[in-house]
Amino acid sequence: MTTRPAHPAPSRIGIIGLGMCVPAKVLTNHDLEQMVDTSDDWIRSRTGIVERRIAEPGTTTSDLAYESGKEALQQAGLTAKEIDLIIVATTTPDMLFPSTACLVQQRLGAKSAVCFDLSAACSGSVFAMITAQQYLLTGRYRHALVIGAEVLSGFIDWTDRSTCVLFGDGAGACVLAPVKRGGILATDMGSDGTAAELLQMPGGGSKYPPSHSSVDQRLHFLRMSGGEIFKLAVRRMVDSAKRVLHDARMQPAHVECFIPHQANIRIIESVAKWAGLPMEKVYMNLQRYGNTSAASNLMALYEAVKEGVVKRDDHVVLVAFGAGLTWGSLLIQW
Ligand code: UT7
Repeated sequence: MTTRPAHPAPSRIGIIGLGMCVPAKVLTNHDLEQMVDTSDDWIRSRTGIVERRIAEPGTTTSDLAYESGKEALQQAGLTAKEIDLIIVATTTPDMLFPSTACLVQQRLGAKSAVCFDLSAACSGSVFAMITAQQYLLTGRYRHALVIGAEVLSGFIDWTDRSTCVLFGDGAGACVLAPVKRGGILATDMGSDGTAAELLQMPGGGSKYPPSHSSVDQRLHFLRMSGGEIFKLAVRRMVDSAKRVLHDARMQPAHVECFIPHQANIRIIESVAKWAGLPMEKVYMNLQRYGNTSAASNLMALYEAVKEGVVKRDDHVVLVAFGAGLTWGSLLIQW
């Protein structure tokens, strides 16, 4: 057993490095017009998505996770050996076990890290950041690498126009560590298992282990009741965003950048409206990547920072929603 030296418990945890990786292959709405009965106009107007990235056969979730994690470490100025904890949030792990986090650990050479995966679907990166923050606040661990990564394209029914136009592949990563100023100011997480059937990938687990029958029934593909998920996503994300602001005794006017889960522009517009956040403060990159599930919030944060949309001292709210159901928010001072 490894004995870890306990550090003095820090009072603030913040992001000290970010990374992102997407596959090179672009699948446009026009490409999808050749595959299913859809149109660029329908997809743009109903979702805001224009194109998404698709992994080449053989590219795995841990490949994308590794690349994004490596960049986050470089930005943080840390070596892999200085990482104490790796959490990979994903719904599309390389395999049921071992965890994708252990595969990333091996590639990085992060010998001292404790590694596990976290399953919270599209809320994955927000859940994983909050989970890592809790460990770091104890002082037992000092540096955590959090990655949200997905190769969803292998689990999409490419004959189902109601889902195949929505999703894409990618990974986002951050390094969390004690900070002297700013950092995470408030967090919120919630779950509702009573609506589990609204969004699921039923095959491949203990309920429907892989079999000829499970393949024939198309159980290994994502299934979604889009309309119901839409309404619940808006309600839960509005409540969650309001809760972190309330806990930090802040008003929407104090927020400089709002980074919602990148699922659908109409969901995002509704959340912004009901949370009292003007669209000028909302960051979106779903037009380029679609819904990348657990990678979504971290990929959007990465690009918002890179483009200078998020600046030093800005208050940033990340809010997520996904299968489970799960939802959560983080209020961060940059
Ligand atoms: O990541 C968290 C989980 N995911 C989400 O947050 C996604 C939540 N849901 C949504 O974003 C939306 O519900 C969708 C984008 C999935 C669907 O949009 P909608 O406005 O709710 O459309 P709808 O499902 O009510 O369908 C409207 C029509 C239907 O035709 P009829 O029955 O009215 O004739 C669909 O068959 O649009 C049709 N349709 C399409 N038409 C062209 C559905 N998908 C397509 C498509 N192309 N790709």
